[in-house]
Amino acid sequence: MERKWWHEAVVYEIYCKSFCDSDGDGIGDLRGVISKLPVLKELGINCIWFAPIYKSPQVDNGYDVADYQDIEPDYGTLEDFKELLDLAHSMGIRVIMDMVLNHSSDEHRWFQESRKSKDNPYRNYYIWQPPKADGSEPNNWGNYFRDGNGSAWEYDELTGEYYLHQYAKKMPDLNWEYEPLRKEVYKMLHWWLDFGVDGFRLDVFTRFKKPEGFPDTKKAPNVILDRNGFIMDNTMCLNVEGIHEILHELYTEVFGTRECMTVGEGAGVTSQNALGYVAKEREEIDMVYHFELSHRKLFSMTPEHFRKVQTEWADVFRHNGWAVQYMSNHDSARQVSVYGSDGIYRMPSAKLLATLIHTSPGTPFIYQGEEIGMVNVEFDDIKDHNCCYTVGDYNSMIQSGMSAEEALKIVGPRSRDNARTPYQWDASKHAGFTTGQPWMKLNPRYTEINLEADRKSEDSIFAYYQEMIKLRQTHPAIIEGDLRFLLEDHPQIIMYLRECEKETLLVIANYSNEKISLQLPEDIRSGKWQRVITNVKGTIPSVDGRDYLLPWETEVYSNTK
Ligand code: GLC
Repeated sequence: MERKWWHEAVVYEIYCKSFCDSDGDGIGDLRGVISKLPVLKELGINCIWFAPIYKSPQVDNGYDVADYQDIEPDYGTLEDFKELLDLAHSMGIRVIMDMVLNHSSDEHRWFQESRKSKDNPYRNYYIWQPPKADGSEPNNWGNYFRDGNGSAWEYDELTGEYYLHQYAKKMPDLNWEYEPLRKEVYKMLHWWLDFGVDGFRLDVFTRFKKPEGFPDTKKAPNVILDRNGFIMDNTMCLNVEGIHEILHELYTEVFGTRECMTVGEGAGVTSQNALGYVAKEREEIDMVYHFELSHRKLFSMTPEHFRKVQTEWADVFRHNGWAVQYMSNHDSARQVSVYGSDGIYRMPSAKLLATLIHTSPGTPFIYQGEEIGMVNVEFDDIKDHNCCYTVGDYNSMIQSGMSAEEALKIVGPRSRDNARTPYQWDASKHAGFTTGQPWMKLNPRYTEINLEADRKSEDSIFAYYQEMIKLRQTHPAIIEGDLRFLLEDHPQIIMYLRECEKETLLVIANYSNEKISLQLPEDIRSGKWQRVITNVKGTIPSVDGRDYLLPWETEVYSNTK
């Protein structure tokens, strides 16, 4: 395999709105990010993924783009971004942009034109359909945000037709069938590469192609969440035949002609179809992240699940393609709350999760705040929530007769808002995020959980991440090693080897709140292992006469050949 920079990278996602506010308006901004670049350097990451920072009405916090070639005024200007980019590059940090190409905002110039008349030159940039004979929507598709009346189609009086929006009604889908639109997108992508960015994260790329003729979905409605008979079937525009032609053209027109990395958000990408997108000879994209290890609706994980998913995907990418390793991002709840433990075991469990991600095959992606063990938040009023998914789900539940309290209990723990509360820099007012009024309520645990507190301690989660990230540069097995699980039926212990020519790594993790007895297999015990990282100081289990692992203990050993 030809080694590329992104095989060695550790990517850090910044959700600008909640990262750091430099001007006191309560909203994170680019100058705030500039001021914190030294912290990211200290952490050791070498690539930033910016969730969308383009000009946007912020219906979906930037995933509704009004101008792909301008910066959201609340975040700053293109000049600020250029400064940030140059500074990041001078520090050895690359920057990739989130490209939202399935849809734009209805405030984008293209859509403003498109809706004007049926013969407007921009009409076909979007997907318009006439009403059915009775005037109703072209089909029974529901939108994913349960926005408006629930339909994925919005009627536009001016021309008497409906436009498609898989997400909010202010987020119309772009029409990838239409060549002038595609050409305009390619031009824009080249413009960003000329600007100096190092690649793109492709938002919901598996949904670009729509099924021929827009047939009704046959899925049975789900009475709580499907509104007014519109069925929210998230497979309706997923991996539709023809999607590969679109991606291949993107590659031949843009990605393959420039030095750039592409990582796709793989909704509906499975171990069966993944190589269709990322195998080198396909000439589509470099990496894809899937939703099988962790996703918004998975409330826990088991060692069995971890082993199954990682084994399956390591097989897929053994000789071709490349994996992304992550447990959370701006679309999920906080990983330590969901897959770890956010009470007394918050510290060891956050470190254990980091170990699993950073020692599994692929490129690790960190989401802001993960490196200090930020946890889920509990709001007791829907008004404190911002995420359109959460609010849409909540409204559907209320509409179906549920009480406010019950609905909040269901939507709260899985809400994307858990990840979106402002970053906790220190214990001062508003956690040092802003001197003004924060755009979103902070997690009240910020006085205990914050970066400043972490930096004061050698045992902190932040310090552990620093150590973990460094290992990537010094232990070839982390990047190249084959994956092999040991103790394959163990209900609490996750144990695996990463083996390459130069080195074998042994990773041990007690995925539980209990003290668990452990006898290492004989061949492992007799090996010449050196401990390279642990979240528990002291004796080596099973070797120094200690035959147990502490709750959430994790250990990594290396045996060099
Ligand atoms: C992706 C983004 C998510 C957004 C959606 C629509 O899933 O990660 O935040 O809401 O696409 O753009």
